[in-house]
Amino acid sequence: MLNKVQSVVFPFYRQPVPCYGFECVYAVESGLRVSDSINSETLYGDLAHSGAVIYRDFADTLEDFNNLVSAHSSRVTFDPARKAATSNTAEIEAGVYEMGLHRENGNLPFNPDLQWFYCLEPALVGSETTMCDGWRVLFELSAKTRKHFETRDIRYVRRIPWANVKRFLSIELNLPIEDITDEHLYQVNEHVKGQAYQRIDQNLISSEFVVSALEISRFSGRKAFCNSMLGPSVNYEPPLITWADGEDISLDIWDEIKEITARNTYSHFWKKGDIVVIDNTRVMHGRRRLDDTSRRIFGAQSYRHGGSSQ
Ligand SMILES: [Fe+2]
Repeated sequence: MLNKVQSVVFPFYRQPVPCYGFECVYAVESGLRVSDSINSETLYGDLAHSGAVIYRDFADTLEDFNNLVSAHSSRVTFDPARKAATSNTAEIEAGVYEMGLHRENGNLPFNPDLQWFYCLEPALVGSETTMCDGWRVLFELSAKTRKHFETRDIRYVRRIPWANVKRFLSIELNLPIEDITDEHLYQVNEHVKGQAYQRIDQNLISSEFVVSALEISRFSGRKAFCNSMLGPSVNYEPPLITWADGEDISLDIWDEIKEITARNTYSHFWKKGDIVVIDNTRVMHGRRRLDDTSRRIFGAQSYRHGGSSQ
């Protein structure tokens, strides 16, 4: 007698985003939480494969999201320009204009490995979060442009209010904000290759950061075009971006980058409860124009377990 073949029912299934390949994981059972369903190995494995993971139809609350971030991070940081909401996350308030693709903190001396998002209230229209896989971008760059980025670093120059620098350093150096002094600026200058802070006056600090526009993913080990060249600075003065020696990056190169990244940019239209996890060393993110200001998205940044940074 033939045994009846029983199909195995999984509590969730995967459906990569067509054309872009980001991992999309859908819950099947109702009430299932991401925080109970995955371990760091699965998450990091998915990130190594796809660059970003989108969890949909799970039941996580903001507090569960907060715990999820903690569980899969060695250390959690914030964007210093935002207010804290829960212990690990902050509500995103970044104006209404379209926000270009960027690597989180890409023009700052400390870059998190992971960018996290949680949707508490979706927008009715537009306001999508954008994601662009820098590994694909690097693959599509012309040989000439790729060679430029492989042989030359880029430089971000800008002025930042001292209050913001203080907040940023207090988080990254793990010190109380009132203890941060000019001494710490010099410490960072000494320890972070490419970073040069300099005091202008009591209010402003000048910051120069020289870094490659290409990054090795801390999850896949592959090289990607991952930087903040196209990102605006909603909370700060926009940086002047040149080659490391101050020479202008030609308009042809800027045009090529814009065209290739635009072609590879996926727009994620949020559904309530969606959780997105991004490899910040490979995939750049941004946002379309905010057409519905009732949208509420929370974000967090963190470092992975077992990473070299921590
Ligand atoms: Fe961001």
